[in-house]
Order: sequence, then C-alpha cells, then structure tokens
Amino acid sequence: MWRKIHFKIFTKEKDEEYGLRKKEFTSLKEIQPHLKILVLFTTSFMIWFLFLLVFSPKRISNPIRGFLSTHSPAECRDNYSVYIYNLPSKFNFDLLEDCSSLNIYTDMCPHVTNNGMGKPLPEMGSSSWYTTHQLIGELIVHARIENHPCRTENAEKATLFYVPFYGGLHASSKFREPNYTIRDALAVELVEYIEEQKWWKRNNGRDRFMAFGRTAWDFMRTDEVPDFGANKLLNMSPVQNMSVLLVERHPWEGHNQHGIPYPSYFHPSALSEMIEWQDRVSYMDRPHLFSFVGAPRTGKKKVVTRDRVIKQCEESSKCLILKCGKGPSKCHKPRQVLNVMMRSNFCLQVLGDSYTRRSTFDSILTGCIPVFFSNHTAYSQYQWFLPSDPTTYSVYIDLERNHSIGIEEELLKIPMEEVERKRRTVIELIPKLTYANPNSTSYGFRDAVDVALKALSDHVSSLLKATS
Ligand SMILES: *[C@@H]1O[C@H](CO)[C@@H](O)[C@H](O)[C@H]1NC(C)=O
Ligand SMILES: *[C@@H]1O[C@H](CO)[C@@H](O)[C@H](O)[C@H]1NC(C)=O
Ligand SMILES: *[C@@H]1O[C@H](CO)[C@@H](O)[C@H](O)[C@H]1NC(C)=O
Ligand SMILES: *[C@@H]1O[C@H](CO)[C@@H](O)[C@H](O)[C@H]1NC(C)=O
Ligand SMILES: *[C@@H]1O[C@H](CO)[C@@H](O)[C@H](O)[C@H]1NC(C)=O
Ligand SMILES: *[C@@H]1O[C@H](CO)[C@@H](O)[C@H](O)[C@H]1NC(C)=O
Repeated sequence: MWRKIHFKIFTKEKDEEYGLRKKEFTSLKEIQPHLKILVLFTTSFMIWFLFLLVFSPKRISNPIRGFLSTHSPAECRDNYSVYIYNLPSKFNFDLLEDCSSLNIYTDMCPHVTNNGMGKPLPEMGSSSWYTTHQLIGELIVHARIENHPCRTENAEKATLFYVPFYGGLHASSKFREPNYTIRDALAVELVEYIEEQKWWKRNNGRDRFMAFGRTAWDFMRTDEVPDFGANKLLNMSPVQNMSVLLVERHPWEGHNQHGIPYPSYFHPSALSEMIEWQDRVSYMDRPHLFSFVGAPRTGKKKVVTRDRVIKQCEESSKCLILKCGKGPSKCHKPRQVLNVMMRSNFCLQVLGDSYTRRSTFDSILTGCIPVFFSNHTAYSQYQWFLPSDPTTYSVYIDLERNHSIGIEEELLKIPMEEVERKRRTVIELIPKLTYANPNSTSYGFRDAVDVALKALSDHVSSLLKATS
C-alpha cells in the first residue's frame, strides 16, 4: 500500500521537473567526426533510392509505397472502423484557446501548435522534428485518428468509438482548484454526455475509448491520500466500462487502462525518413557505455533509487550525465538530450515522479538500450508495443532488492553480441513507438496510433465476445 500512496502524492510534479529547471549541463563534445559518416551514409541511401526510382519501379511500389503515395487516399488495412464523437467544443478545442492557463507550471501555447507536435526543430536536420511536449499525446492521437484510413463517418458501421476529450490538458489546468465540484465539473459533464448518446447502450460503453497524454494518477483522486490536484474521471462507473489509453496506467487498478508511448520529437510523414533515421542510429559511434539524463531529487526519501543511480553514474568514467537542477527555466534542449543518448550504449531509465519516463522513448528513438529499475516503467505499461520478453531489448537491474549492485559492472558483463542484438531490436521498435505526422494518411509503416487502434480493436472484440 505504501507504494501506491508514495506515487500518488507527487505525480503533479512531473511538469515542474521538466518545465522549471535551471540550466546546468555537463559539457558535451560535438559529434563532428561521426557527422562525416552520416553524411556519407545518407548520400549513399539517397543514391540507392534514386537508383530504385529510376530502374526498378515495380520494387518501390511495394515497400516504399508511403513515400510515393503520401497524397493519394490510403485504404484501411485492418478489420475495424473508428468513429469520432462530434463532442461540443468545450471538451476539446475551446480548451486550447486558453492555452496559457492549461498547465499551472508551463505556458502550453507553443506546445499545442502543429496538432500537438509543437514548434519545428530544424536543428535535427529535417522537417520531421518538433519540440514536442511530453504530456501532449492526446492532441496528436486526435489528429492522427481524424486523418486515419480506418476512420468512418457512419456510426452504425463503427466498431470503435473515440471520445476526443482533452482530459489531460483539462486536468492540468485545474490542479490548483480547491473545490472538487468545480474541479470535476467538465469530466462529469462529459460522462453524462456520452452516456446519453445513441449507441452507448448497445455495448454498455465497451466499444468507447478515450486517450490522454497524462498519467492515470491525475484522473484517480482518492480520499486515502493527500490531494495533489487529480480529478475523478477514471473512477466514474461509466468510464470503467470504456477503454482508456494513457502514457502511464495504474499498475494495480487500471484494468481498463492501456499504456501508449509518450510522444518523442520525431514525427516523420514518410517511410524514407524513418529508414534514414534508423540507419543513422544504427551506424552511430557510441563511445559511452551508459548515460543518464534527468534531475536529482536530493533530500527526498521517495527517490532513493534515483539518487543511487545518479551517484553511480557520476562516479563512473563510462557514464555520461546530463543533469539539471531546480530552477525557473527549461532544463534539457531536445537536441542535447538526443546527442547524449545517440552516443551511449545504455540509457538509464530510473523512476522519479512516477514510474514511467518520456526518456524511455527518446532512448529507443536513438537506438540506446533502456535500463530499467522497476517493472512498472515499461514492462507492465506498454504491452501492446514492446516484445513480451524484456531481455530482447532492455536490461533490468533490481537495485531495490540489492542496493550494492554496480550498474557499470552489470552492463560490462553483457557480451558485445548481445548488446548488438538488443540494439537491433530497439531500432526495429522505433516505427511503432513513433507518432507519425498527422498531416499524412499513408506512411508506409505502422506507427504508435496504428498499433494502438489495432490492439484496442482486438481487445474490444474479445471483451464483447466474453460478455455476449
Ligand atoms: C479482427 O480480426 C481478429 C483476428 O485477426 C479478430 O480476433 C477480431 O475479432 C476482428 N475484429 C473485428 C472488429 O472484426
Ligand atoms: C507533412 O509535413 C511534412 C513536414 O512537416 C512535409 O514535408 C510534408 O510535405 C507534409 N505532407 C502533407 C501531405 O502535407
Ligand atoms: C464548490 O462549488 C460548488 C459549485 O460552484 C458550490 O455549490 C459549493 O458550495 C462549493 N463548495 C465549497 C466548499 O466551497
Ligand atoms: C457497465 O457494464 C455493465 C455490464 O455490462 C452494465 O451492467 C452497466 O450498466 C454498464 N454501465 C453503464 C454506465 O453503462
Ligand atoms: C519484476 O518482474 C520480474 C518478472 O516478472 C519478477 O521476477 C520480479 O520479481 C519483479 N520485480 C519486482 C520488484 O516486482
Ligand atoms: C548484492 O550485490 C553485490 C554486488 O553485486 C553482491 O556482492 C552481493 O552478494 C549481493 N547481495 C545479495 C543479497 O544478493
């Protein structure tokens, strides 16, 4: 029990951690020598591609279809169809109009632009990169489904019903509202609204779903713990019949909750961009055995493991650390974070405010093998997306069981071939953990939204079979 309480009371700090920190970077050397290899590789890829384009039209029409047919209408290749509720705009778009007060710690206005991808990040060398906020997933998911080939406008034919409520943004705008009635009001209205809709009764809500960019703790207020700003949306009984997609599910009580990836910074609209990036991270030179990106939490008992991990990194000559302290400005620039991870073999994913980290997805995106210290940072969260055998793509170090385990020694024990094997798996995972640019409908690869909708659909079919 202490564990649950322990986590519930501080999840709202997640924003402070990322939004309000002083710059305190350890110096980073530039990656010049490796750039040459990259340029060389990119160029050869382009030449190869042009070659295909000119000489082998039959072959490209298949795997690289997404690249060529971005503008042609794509067809649904799965056996579900998703209907989007036309909600009154107070449940979604109206919230965005007041974007400066959506989050009590950060001005969200720059982050809600470009369908939630945020401002472009051209330093990364292509138009597929954006400074995406970690807790904005619901906007991107909405935009993706709007443009999805399996979307239907015909509710009678639909097998899935998406309720596009921007519940995460709404929750964070009300963290400081002391009156529970007021804090919960919009969520209560939403639930009343969807229950009244024509098709609700057909399956008692089991074919409905919502998607939120924040953790489950923000929607599960209980009397057992001191108030930290959460509302009661996920505790309401009609919602218990629905499916809820979230970046962090409640590991014990989230029977209807499903983990979806945190959005990272890469939002390609074509397969070619994806392949180019996968090749780039495959050929990176990785001089550092491991790295840590994040902030220490000195003086707080609850983050003992985090402090131990940071201390071990600081004391190891093989660990690269990008640390930031408390303070008013943004801590990590995306480019700096990615540069550290791209130069490391292993990236430490130590829990902090809550179990999960956006950094897990940044790490996989850069081909850096994630090292976990809790089963709930990924294994019990993202089962739709990650291989069922965690040893194929990650390392687990149980520091809570034995404080004396040396991270460096554990990592050095892993044979080089195994490191290579894990890294290959990590790089293969990139497409399905990526949120593709919602401006397109045909990418040539299955992204996080494609995977989530298919898995959700299969889950809902089995639920309906079980109850019919
Ligand atoms: C889609 O196909 C899967 C099997 O591949 C099946 O279990 C599921 O019920 C089907 N879903 C729908 C909505 O027909
Ligand atoms: C989508 O956006 C990307 C980059 O932001 C751009 O290169 C591409 O042309 C856009 N595609 C469409 C179909 O608008
Ligand atoms: C909370 O707000 C509601 C609705 O505005 C109001 O009726 C109620 O009296 C308020 N409760 C407290 C304790 O102020
Ligand atoms: C939830 O599902 C149960 C079982 O099918 C049903 O009895 C109940 O009425 C549903 N709740 C709502 C609010 O529809
Ligand atoms: C994590 O999961 C593994 C495999 O299921 C299990 O052996 C281990 O005891 C778990 N660790 C904790 C701390 O729950
Ligand atoms: C804890 O880890 C250390 C270092 O690997 C090892 O020497 C020690 O035997 C372990 N203790 C237990 C109880 O497993």
